[in-house]
Amino acid sequence: MEKFATPRDLTALRKSLLGWYAQKKRKLPWRETTDPYAIWLSEIMLQQTTVETVIPYYEKFLARFPTLESMAGAGESELLRYWAGLGYYNRIRNFQKATQIVIRNREGKMPQEPDGLRELPGIGPYTASAIASIAFNKPAAVVDGNVIRVLSRLFAYRRDISTTTAKTFFQSRADSLLDPLHPGDFNQAMMELGAVVCSPESPNCRRCPVSKWCEAKKRNTAEELPRKSGKIVMKNQNYACLIRRRDSKILLRQRTKESVLNGMWELPLVPIATDMVRWFGGLTTTRGSPCPKAKPITHTIMNRR
Ligand code: ADE
Repeated sequence: MEKFATPRDLTALRKSLLGWYAQKKRKLPWRETTDPYAIWLSEIMLQQTTVETVIPYYEKFLARFPTLESMAGAGESELLRYWAGLGYYNRIRNFQKATQIVIRNREGKMPQEPDGLRELPGIGPYTASAIASIAFNKPAAVVDGNVIRVLSRLFAYRRDISTTTAKTFFQSRADSLLDPLHPGDFNQAMMELGAVVCSPESPNCRRCPVSKWCEAKKRNTAEELPRKSGKIVMKNQNYACLIRRRDSKILLRQRTKESVLNGMWELPLVPIATDMVRWFGGLTTTRGSPCPKAKPITHTIMNRR
């Protein structure tokens, strides 16, 4: 595995990456602001959701809740309506709780250091470093999926990337690469490189600003990296759901006190055994006619299908 032998190498790598980012970065709305609240909101939305999906939500949210105070004072049902479709709904609940804590306990001033940010609900190590570096210029390196791919290739890391050892390795390499003078841009440049150049299927080494220092490029092994074992196991769960219409209305129930999707509205559902699924195809209505719409629909949420 390659190390950067001299400080000069490291300085040149940082300069090349930051120069590329300044020229080629995508125009994303949260890159046009220095408002820590807006940057915080963007990082919460970007947890588990793609940039393309987040953009319209981010713009709508900021137009409706432009400040920490407006977010803290919002009604839950309106917040959930604005979040509908983004998934992982606890993100917005935690975000609101966190804004209320900042107002109540910190006179509306967000913590600037990763440790302080991590004390707030919904902020883990990755998000804390992202906010601290982008909003407050603190030298905290982020490691997400895109950054791991870049680092695994840069250092030709051939072992499984899902182990604790691997996570420690990537964090320590990210820490030492980080440009302490431009930590926010450096972090975003690493993410950007993983998103638009150093992609999973085809690492575009010819367009890469750090290919000169890339050990995988040197060994022609970039396409094989990173290595992952232990794929996510999907679980099947079957439900029967009732579609009850009256005039132009449809019967919905609100989920309460549930572990997932709490507070959301749904068609009334009951869990059923797998061997009952076929039986539902032959259902009849209460008037004896065949049920026209009794057919399976597949949804996937997290690791459940
Ligand atoms: N993913 C997480 N944070 C991001 C950011 N600031 N820019 C682009 N993608 C991201």
